[in-house]
Amino acid sequence: MSKIRVMPVELSNRIAAGEVIERPASVVKELVENALDAGATQITVAIERAGLHLISVTDNGCGMDDEDALLALEPHGTSKLLSDEGIDHISTLGFRGEAIPSIAAVAKLTIRTRTAEAPEGVEVVVEGGKRIACHPCGGAVGTTIEVRELFFNTPARKKFLKSNPTEEHHIEETLINLALGNGKAGITLLIDRKKVFSCIPDATPEVRAREFFGRNFAANLKKVEYREGDCRIHGLVAAPGFTRPGRREQRIYLNHRPIESLVVWRGIRDGYGTLENESGRFPPTMLFIELPPEEFDINVHPAKREVRFKSEYFITRAVGTAVRQALHENAAESVESLSPEPAVPKSISIEQILQAAQVAYQPENAVQMELTAQVAPPKKPIEISQPEKVEKLPLQETFSALPPSVVSTALTDSPQAEMPVVKIRAAIPEQAVFGGAWPDRVLGIYDDTYILASGGGALIVVDQHAAHERILFEEILDQLAQGSPASQPLLIGQVLELPPAKVALLLRHRDVFAKLGFDFEDMGKHSVIVNAIPSNFNEHMAPISQMVEEMLDELLENARAQMPVNPEFAARAACKAAVKAHWVLTIEEATKLLQKLKACRQGTLCPHGRPTMITLSERELERRFGRR
Ligand SMILES: Nc1ncnc2c1ncn2[C@@H]1O[C@H](COP(=O)(O)OP(=O)(O)OP(=O)(O)O)[C@@H](O)[C@H]1O
Ligand SMILES: [Mg+2]
Repeated sequence: MSKIRVMPVELSNRIAAGEVIERPASVVKELVENALDAGATQITVAIERAGLHLISVTDNGCGMDDEDALLALEPHGTSKLLSDEGIDHISTLGFRGEAIPSIAAVAKLTIRTRTAEAPEGVEVVVEGGKRIACHPCGGAVGTTIEVRELFFNTPARKKFLKSNPTEEHHIEETLINLALGNGKAGITLLIDRKKVFSCIPDATPEVRAREFFGRNFAANLKKVEYREGDCRIHGLVAAPGFTRPGRREQRIYLNHRPIESLVVWRGIRDGYGTLENESGRFPPTMLFIELPPEEFDINVHPAKREVRFKSEYFITRAVGTAVRQALHENAAESVESLSPEPAVPKSISIEQILQAAQVAYQPENAVQMELTAQVAPPKKPIEISQPEKVEKLPLQETFSALPPSVVSTALTDSPQAEMPVVKIRAAIPEQAVFGGAWPDRVLGIYDDTYILASGGGALIVVDQHAAHERILFEEILDQLAQGSPASQPLLIGQVLELPPAKVALLLRHRDVFAKLGFDFEDMGKHSVIVNAIPSNFNEHMAPISQMVEEMLDELLENARAQMPVNPEFAARAACKAAVKAHWVLTIEEATKLLQKLKACRQGTLCPHGRPTMITLSERELERRFGRR
């Protein structure tokens, strides 16, 4: 007997409708959500040509009878929300009855499905919303939905899609997010017939975290378990100090649905309190909030990622308490009993860092304004090999202020090669020149993070991390420009365990990483082996796994729109190897760092555009102390 009904107009008018299938990942999300709602414990997603040729989702859920297979194609045809009262008690991922008709309208769609009661299945074929065929078919209990030639009748929408690797990455991310939130189902992803990942059914959050992010990640997580009234908050949060550059890995699930919520983020921040002290970085979380459906409204936006909580204050407070308890009560234990990677050394020798780095810039290359009196004129610019290509560089945002004195050099020999050109600045334009005081004497180090220095009649505070990032960045850029990555082979190759999506990202951009001096080898499934690292990286600075993973995170955060990755983004990401805040430097080490910074072409800004130093002039000090 059919379960699907077309909802009455009055009810459909109350639904936040208008779903637009904007990219292949949206189709994957909707089809996998349907499979989860159908109670599937095994779901296989197959993608071809980034989903534009084929997206196929097969599940072993309850299936549909022949009537339902047709009703599913009707706008507002749903088995999940049938009455007005139901709208306040939604417990399924879907409820609008919109997804399948929306997909069917922009693709060639085949539904093959069978219920446990039916002796045979049914196959329905639809093209651009029009039914082409409907006939009995064989097959196991469950459903397969195939979406072919997505956007075949809406070429305008196709134009907005990004490169295939970017679209594939969105698909992987979407699936990982759903798999993390729904441990019951095993999910397999195949891209162009190759298995990208396969996660087991009946997995706890800990197991999922290990499956997708590797043991090191899991070793840095703490278990959360908190109840207050009808609300349960559980899952995992990162140990203090384990952060990522962005909120992407602060994953929140409300009754197993991935959501984004300021109210919850605020609670997480409160829970960490002063433990979360690096701005722009966020501790990863996998927080599951379980609430009775009447306590929130998910019918806010068609994409169902937004939620309105009945009591926002309660949620923020409960999340804050849950996180705080997890961090303090479980301070000693992590969810991973295996010993983690060696911790970042508290005290490292800047000698080790700086001496390992080749001095790419001699002082005479430096063109900071206040130094020009003491130095020789800048060397002749490097020859421009592909001037016409330079104009189109996506990285121009970074150097937009630069005048024609900017020079470039190609990374590749062949002009047709896909690899973008890297721009190297040989001179700083007048307006970008640093005209202030330069630190020349270290006075001390505050909080093992800020170098206090004097110079040019001013007190200068230098951020040691930002400063070292700038130094590494310029060195790496130089090596790229010279086309000869200075690489140091590791005595013993290091095996890195990474989430499959990151392994895929790394391997896809292996050539870019090679240009930086890395050498990776695929070990299959979750692992790669690192055989060499850039010579100006120091193995002792931070565990290699941490450096590489942070680089990948940075790439994902910032280069999303630019796959294939531009080498300069990679260079910026490589700066993850820089000394961090709270690493203890001696005064001599800090002095050397400042000398190197002085030799940089744009030592006052870190590669991300933030300042490396702030200056308090004597005048300013006098003014503040009321002496003037
Ligand atoms: N894989 C599946 N297994 C069993 N039934 C399915 C499956 N996919 C879809 N259905 C049925 O088809 C109906 C329509 O699916 P559709 O995704 O269009 O709407 P929905 O899931 O109800 O709501 P939403 O638009 O919010 O996703 C579902 O309500 C469900 O009854
Ligand atoms: Mg649905």
